[in-house]
Amino acid sequence: MDNKEILVINGGKPLEGEVCISGAKNSALPILAACVLGTEEIILDAVPKLKDVEIMIDVLRHLGSKVEYIDEETVRIDSSNINTCETPFELMDKMRASFVVMGPLLSRFKKAYTKAPGGCNIGARPIDLHLKGFQALGAESMVNDDEISITTNGELFGNEIYLDFPSVGATQNIMMAATLAKGETTIENAAKEPEIVDLASFLSKMGAKIKGAGTSTIVIEGVEKLTGARHTIIPDRIEAASYMIAAVMTKGDVTIKNVIGSHIRPIIAKLIEMGASVEEYEDEDIIRVSTNHRLKPTNVQTLPYPGFPTDAQAQFMALMTVCDGESRIQETVFENRFMHVEQLNKMGAAIATSGNRATVVGVDRLHGASVKATDLRAGAALVMAGLTAKGETRVSDIYHIDRGYSDLEGKFRKLGADIKRVKVK
Ligand code: EPZ
Repeated sequence: MDNKEILVINGGKPLEGEVCISGAKNSALPILAACVLGTEEIILDAVPKLKDVEIMIDVLRHLGSKVEYIDEETVRIDSSNINTCETPFELMDKMRASFVVMGPLLSRFKKAYTKAPGGCNIGARPIDLHLKGFQALGAESMVNDDEISITTNGELFGNEIYLDFPSVGATQNIMMAATLAKGETTIENAAKEPEIVDLASFLSKMGAKIKGAGTSTIVIEGVEKLTGARHTIIPDRIEAASYMIAAVMTKGDVTIKNVIGSHIRPIIAKLIEMGASVEEYEDEDIIRVSTNHRLKPTNVQTLPYPGFPTDAQAQFMALMTVCDGESRIQETVFENRFMHVEQLNKMGAAIATSGNRATVVGVDRLHGASVKATDLRAGAALVMAGLTAKGETRVSDIYHIDRGYSDLEGKFRKLGADIKRVKVK
């Protein structure tokens, strides 16, 4: 982790202008993993330049895939010569999302080995639903110390699988494992996120037979093999939400380009409810967000899609700190996703928490402080708080931010923010 860089922000400038959203991190990662299933060349467009994407590409290369950039955000992958089914432990340590390569390895090679993905700052992040799905397809999973092996001595067979929780990763892993299984698999209580739909659309281009992605019931008819495809990653709805929220926090006027409004309906609805102006130009994938006054308070409960996204909770809490009145947040998806509270309170916010509930009393203005990014979205929230705070804010541990936001400071600078990346001793 590069601890030697920080972001220095001088707040108070309204953000104005245009920002173009990159491809979705949480779609690019499972789609890159799905390339393991393909026996012919794959081209992916709109692959975001992110640390997490670099790690997933390293995982594919370790497995034997040939991966090369043929343009700034276009990647060519050839997985015809994969020569191992073991995901490198050190890469799993770096990014637990690498676990989503297990389903494709199991499906194509009938075995997959890796290190158990540990928890992270926001929660224990268990994988029981992933393993339950693999077992339902006929695989055996063994977990000893921290190594996981998932194998089957024959074929995988389609089955009915019910997910106790609509887990995004488990839905993706099981859907990919089922693509080459014998027979039909039904996933009940499946996750409905747009990234699930994007993955299913990519797999279908490779020849998979998938119905119902985006609903609670996904049906996969196993096929003999999957070939190549070309696919453009959908825009990152959480990145878009972050810039929309930053625009209103700074009482600015920002046009967001390359955004699908239907993917962030809860954010749009809440911002309008709080008094911001949000204009959607759906046929052009453009949303314009502005306000010249403080916003009204609101209450938010994070839920699986299509509910309010947990990945926008920290950023929305930062906005609430400078709204009128008292706002409330209930975080229902992860068990420890309030670490940004202490950092925001260092900037003069008035946030109290009890369990998975937070109460935010709006203050006139935040003040700059030295704060620490504790996870990816908390880091973005602190930068956004710095953009509106009085004085200078220094955000450290920004490697968290670099995992999921491409050129955050460059995009904010283009909108008029006084923000720079500084090397520290
Ligand atoms: C994906 O994580 C995203 N990451 C997360 O984004 C996002 O917050 C999350 O979905 C929810 O939308 C990627 O796509 C790479 P889950 P994932 O499985 O798949 C419990 C970001 O900031 N659960 O839907 O790990 C789990 O403990 C990141 O971009 C089990 O109990 O999320 C959690 O409480 C953060 N058993 C809940 O489900 C399991 O086997 C949601 O987890 C799996 C999950």
